[in-house]
Parts: sequence; structure tokens; C-alpha cells
Amino acid sequence: MDSSVDITDIGTWEPPFIQPHKMGALNKFGQRTLRDNICREVFGVPVNDLVRRYGSPVFVVGEKHLRQNIRRIKSAFEQRYNLAVHGWSYKTNYISAICRILHQEGSLAEVVSKFEYEKARFLGVPGEQIIFNGPNKPKDILRRAIEDGALIQADHMEELKMLEAVADELGRIVKIGIRINFDTGFTEPWSRFGFNLESGQVNEAINFISRSDHLRLSSLHSHIGTFVLEPRAYAEQVRIMCELMRKLEGVENVAIDTIDIGGGIPSRNALQTIYLPPEQAVPDINEYADAICEALLAGTRYRKEIGKELPRLIFESGRAVIDDAEVLITSVVGTKRLPDGRRAAILDAGTNLLFTAYWYNHQVKMTRNAAGSEEETVLYGPLCMNIDVVRHSISLPPLAAGDHLVISPVGAYNNTQWLQFIEYRPNVVLAQESGGCSVIRQAEDLGVMMAQDQIPAHLASLDLSGKIRPLSRSGNHPTLNRKLV
Ligand SMILES: Cc1ncc(COP(=O)(O)O)c(C=O)c1O
Repeated sequence: MDSSVDITDIGTWEPPFIQPHKMGALNKFGQRTLRDNICREVFGVPVNDLVRRYGSPVFVVGEKHLRQNIRRIKSAFEQRYNLAVHGWSYKTNYISAICRILHQEGSLAEVVSKFEYEKARFLGVPGEQIIFNGPNKPKDILRRAIEDGALIQADHMEELKMLEAVADELGRIVKIGIRINFDTGFTEPWSRFGFNLESGQVNEAINFISRSDHLRLSSLHSHIGTFVLEPRAYAEQVRIMCELMRKLEGVENVAIDTIDIGGGIPSRNALQTIYLPPEQAVPDINEYADAICEALLAGTRYRKEIGKELPRLIFESGRAVIDDAEVLITSVVGTKRLPDGRRAAILDAGTNLLFTAYWYNHQVKMTRNAAGSEEETVLYGPLCMNIDVVRHSISLPPLAAGDHLVISPVGAYNNTQWLQFIEYRPNVVLAQESGGCSVIRQAEDLGVMMAQDQIPAHLASLDLSGKIRPLSRSGNHPTLNRKLV
């Protein structure tokens, strides 16, 4: 044997194993080639540099990509209906820098809680540019929102009564909206939010407002669901809302100037329940804008005929704006061969950071060409919990500890639904449009974690002398001592 052969070129040696043969590596979309699966830089910045500077795991947001997304989405609507405005759904990703970028691009803030309302105001958004949705708006924040001139969209009767009471206390006449729900025939109706149209709850709400001394109904809001793959669902939503608006013409204390259609337009992510790849399953934003704006122009034509202004259109798209503008870089900390023959890798990021792994099959890319054949692999996160699985099955070449993986799209609902569970949450970095990077959310450390804990006086000191048997050789644990001698 030639002793000059460099065995590091051969790849990682693994002991032989027996694996059951499984059909189905190919499907009608062909076989993914490894070449597509290498990603050495994200948003123009080398992955290795990002890990070196900001650690692993790390979230990276592409500013240019985000601005391009929102401009494209806004222009799709504005070209077709010039009274269209975008409301940035804070719960999708409320990292301050991201909200600031979207407000700079002209988006209103759509918030659904006291915290989100306060955050929007803290970030400098004027009250008149806030849409306040959601089923739980405590009285103190409703009062502030009324004083600030925010658009409050009531969810239920108790809230309407509270609005009436606060407006009375303030001696104000307040323009409000109501959230309504109904069946478009295309999606499972979300009947738990707002007033139901078919059962007459909407009429009850309108009767309450029209009798009120302090409330004026100016906005109709609905949100038909999430990841809605059928643009015709929105056309039907708008048709139903316009029909209601028309019926309300002339009703006392009602003058609708806003139709708010919520969000739900999908991102290019791979839902676990959908067979087609996202490029084929998800319609282009222009198809949604076409369906929505055509239905709106048709449904409001009567307004032109009676010489009345057309309503403003608010669309509150979240995931379609941010999802593919953010990636998660994670590293392999260990590898295993499972007893059933599958390969497995343990990553330093799991469902604690990637809540959406429960419903998406995220794209996972390597940062180097790995030698060895691709095999079905399970990607586990770092949590000491069985449910922490990032991908149940993905075809990958052999991974090695220290490998970096780039997971995408991850911009929607992860930086808000992530858990401080077992691990610290990592840095979130912005790859700036002008070049360079900056941390937009700092990694947690023990100081952050301890900041909220309080220790009562009787627990202030920790004197454990004689109370716990030490697990050390010098201790008095008989079994342990016997084993160690
Ligand atoms: C009222 C409302 N608006 C907007 C959104 C954003 O939805 P998406 O991110 O699917 O566009 C949601 C999400 O559930 C919502 O409930």
C-alpha cells in the first residue's frame, strides 16, 4: 500500500452497517442534486464569518431582501388599488429593527396585545398608524389607544361595552372597527375571532354601535386564515365584506371608510401537509393582489355611482413579507447511527428556536461539499426532550461535528414564538443593505435569565453543609466509593 495516500481526502470512515432498502428516493420532481444544497454565504456574508463573529446558532436577516419583499408586495396592491396600505403584523416578527425597516417602508403597525401596542408606540409609531386587533385588550390600553387615535377593531361584545364606557369617561366620540368572521367556502372558517356574520352576531354588534352615543363604526375587518393557497378565497372574502358595507350605507353611526382583510398570504415555505414544492404550490403575490383588488373594485363600484369615496384597503400580510428574508445558521454538535439504521445529527438549534419546524419542512443546506453518499437523516435539536426534531427525514451526506447548516425560510413566527427553554436564545444579526452586519437582538446570558427572578429573604443564602451527599470520591457515598476504589 502506498503510504503517501492522504486518508483525510477519503471522507469520514464509518463501520459497515445493514440498512433496509427503501424505494422512493426519486419522485416526479427528480432527485435533488447536492450542488443545489451548498450555501457558503447568506445575504452576501460568508457563513463562516458570521459564526466566527456572532457564534452558533445565529439568526441572520437580509435587509435588502426584506425591503425588496415589502416593496414588491406593496406595489402589487397599490398598482391595482391606490388606497391600499400594508399593516405589518407585529406577532410575525417584532424585533425592533425589523419593525423599523417596515415602518420606514410605509407599513402601519398591526398589533394584537398590550405589549405589542406599547412596543409600537415605543418604536415611535404614532397612534393613528396603529391597527389594534386581537381578542384581549385590557381597559388601560384601550384608553391609551383611544387617546392616541389608533384604529381599534373590536372582537366581542364585552369589548364593545368597554369601548363605550371608556369613550364615555373620556367624553369622546370614537371611530372603531369590528372584526367579523364568515365562511368563504374555500378555507376552514376561523369563527373564534370577531362577530359571526351568518349567525347574526354582526347585526347585534352593529345595532349596539348604532345606538351608542360614543361609538362610530368606520372599519370592517376579517382574517380568513393562514397560509391560504387559494386567491379566490380572498376574492370571496372581499365580496362578502363589500356586500355588508353596502347594506350598512345609511345606518346611523356607521360610515365605513376602511376594509381590512387581515393576512394569511403564504410564504415560499414547505408546509408538511403539502406534496408540491413551494415554488409550485404557492401562487405569486400578483395573483392575490389581482383577486383582492378586482373584487374590491367590483364591490365598491356602487360608491362611485352614489358619489362616495372608496374605502381604504388594509392588508396585514406577515409571513409573505419576512419569512424568506431570514435564515438560521446552526452547527452539528454530534452524530449518531440510530438502531433502525437512520443517520442522525444533533444540532445546537432546535424547536426552542424554530417553532415552525412543527409544521414546515424547512430547507436545510450544508456549507461544504461532503464526501459520502446521501442518506435519510434525522436532525435533532439540543433540548433534552424527545419532541425536539428539526427535520424528521432529510436526505443528506454524512455530517460531522462542527459542520454548519443553513436553515430557511425562518423569518416568520420564530423570533416571536421561540422559547426560552433549556438554552439561551442566540444573536439575531442584520446583514445591512449598505454592507456590514449588526446585532439586532443580543444573545441571552445568565444575567438576562436571572433579571426577572426574585429570591425571598428566607432563601437568600444557600448553606448546604451536611444536607446533600456529595457525588465525589472524597464524599461519603458508599456505593460510589466502592466503585471508585
Ligand atoms: C388579524 C391578523 N392579521 C394578520 C396576520 C398575519 O398573518 P400572516 O403572517 O399569515 O400573513 C394574522 C395572523 O394570524 C392575524 O391574525
